[in-house]
Amino acid sequence: MAVAEISRMVQQQPLTRNRHLLRWVEKIAELTRPAAIHWVDGSQAEYDRLCAEMVERGSLIRLNPQLWPGCYYARSSPDDVARVEDRTFVCSLSRDGAGPTNNWEEPYAMRRKLRERFAGSMRGRTLYVLPFSMGPLHSPMARIGVQLTDSPYVVINMRIMTRIGREVFQEIDKDVRRVVACLHSVGAPLAPGERDAPWPCNPEKYIVHFPETREIWSYGSGYGGNALLGKKSLGLRIASNIARDEGWMAEHMLIVGVEDPRGERTYVAAAFPSACGKTNFAMMIPPKAFPGWKIWTVGDDIAWMWPGANGQLRAINPEHGFFGVAPGTSLATNPNAMASLSRNTIFTNTALTPEGGVWWEGMSETPPAECLDWQGRPWTPEIARQTGARASHPNARFTAPAAQCPAIDPHWEDPEGVPISAIVFGGRRSHTIPLVFQGFNWSAGVYVGATMGSETTAAAAGAVGRVRRDPMAMLPFCGYHMGDYFRHWIKMQRSLSVTPKIFHVNWFRKDEQGKFLWPGFGENMRVLRWIVDRVHGRSLARETPIGWMPGYEDIDWHGLEFPRERFEALQSVDRAAWHAEVISHEELLIELHDHLPSEIIFERELLICRL
Ligand code: GTP
Ligand code: SPV
Ligand code: MN
Repeated sequence: MAVAEISRMVQQQPLTRNRHLLRWVEKIAELTRPAAIHWVDGSQAEYDRLCAEMVERGSLIRLNPQLWPGCYYARSSPDDVARVEDRTFVCSLSRDGAGPTNNWEEPYAMRRKLRERFAGSMRGRTLYVLPFSMGPLHSPMARIGVQLTDSPYVVINMRIMTRIGREVFQEIDKDVRRVVACLHSVGAPLAPGERDAPWPCNPEKYIVHFPETREIWSYGSGYGGNALLGKKSLGLRIASNIARDEGWMAEHMLIVGVEDPRGERTYVAAAFPSACGKTNFAMMIPPKAFPGWKIWTVGDDIAWMWPGANGQLRAINPEHGFFGVAPGTSLATNPNAMASLSRNTIFTNTALTPEGGVWWEGMSETPPAECLDWQGRPWTPEIARQTGARASHPNARFTAPAAQCPAIDPHWEDPEGVPISAIVFGGRRSHTIPLVFQGFNWSAGVYVGATMGSETTAAAAGAVGRVRRDPMAMLPFCGYHMGDYFRHWIKMQRSLSVTPKIFHVNWFRKDEQGKFLWPGFGENMRVLRWIVDRVHGRSLARETPIGWMPGYEDIDWHGLEFPRERFEALQSVDRAAWHAEVISHEELLIELHDHLPSEIIFERELLICRL
């Protein structure tokens, strides 16, 4: 195709007048050589048409509309099921800018490599020009991106996860806001007449961020955080860079409003690593014995937080939907999630039932008598018993509109966000770490977050169940040097008139038999209540070497039989285990040593002295 022809293709009904955008689309089309260009208007009609085309091509299955109205089902390629952290790069101008916890390559060399991969990568496909806003479009905190992608799966998912379409183009046309350029290709060009794969992708993957120019290039994957570039790539890796420069925070956190029986609402943000319980916590239903308490959902994965006019920390959820872990989600564990995903939802890598519905491990006590597994193979409970085969992939996901959550907070789209009174860190730890404690103050709390550890999960490719340091649940998502990130956290306190209290929780501690000591889910409300009461100076705590901790009497046990000894086991601080813990903090801190703020070093010394 001649360059003039590409230019004509770009000019066909563009939904923008912005010269920079038009020029960029033209340049990328020249490089990637798509067969067509589609300007995404974000309408329902467009969504329906894209879905119908995907159904036709075998990329999507329409679920039974009686059971699952407006829902679709996708199966990924078996080697494209999770984020690929070892193929994710932060290519800042200097290696030091990205720091030792990020993969780095020299940006010019990386660009050269990427240009080679993207050359002709969209042949035979449509290039979608997808404008999106992270945050309510007219919020001062909103950030705009444009994703050029050859994946209609990405377009339909992004329509649920972000705010997309015509209105965003109009905002871009005002030419006052900087746009984050996001380029994405599944890396599977089609020869003329070649039949497309149901889930096109490339064994070689690159998820690359250029922080200085605020650019994202993603190649080879169609899955989740690798491909829906508003989420981890813009919402966290690029946003963390913008936030550091502008004095705010982009965090891997859920946001909830906790309403007490008098109607007072306290907002809490919580950082747990991937697949460690953010969505569940964000939609928690308090136990029956907590009349008048209610949890309101603001967000389940990302929080952008900044000092408000009165110096109080405020936060928005920049997303518009939930990209949630399906396995384990049920009416018993998370009825609000079940309601959110009951319609207009895209399911990926769950099992498919003969009635045209979806199923996953943990959805119901009795599995379906038969179904097709996440790779389309026949699955029965008997096969599972014999071979251990799963029906759904452990990282199977649902993409559901946030507005469908019955507990969605009335303020979840407020342009000015909600005030944050407490920050909670939490990991998945079978041993050592108690159910809950409170950091002594901001810098002690930052140390707690900075040295957080968690056992790895299926949300990222690689071994599962290994403890790794995952500072603030941001190890795979911080777009610059982790030491500088800690410094930024320390510095943020100076722009706040009220300092949020900082806590640490662990729902996953196990007994000698390997069973969870804590029932979790809705019962987590008992811990949250203590946290909120601490914020308001209404609950007691005792001082321990690691922080303030509730005694048995300080927790509301109404409606739950929970023996004191079990609680003591959950809360125990074993000095020998903590010695080992503190020594393993050092592994990360040594790596970061030349960028560590002195507060982290002093907090560490203090902790060692107390222990
Ligand atoms: P990402 O979307 O990857 O960021 O994950 P997330 O942090 O939102 O995790 P999610 O809430 O989806 O939970 C992941 C897994 O943890 C699911 O299998 C849940 O069933 C399980 N889980 C969540 N909360 C609890 C809890 O309180 N106790 C226990 N034992 N398991 C939990
Ligand atoms: C996570 O892994 O933290 C997720 C899912 O929220 S993904 O969008 O794939 O990053
Ligand atoms: Mn996440």
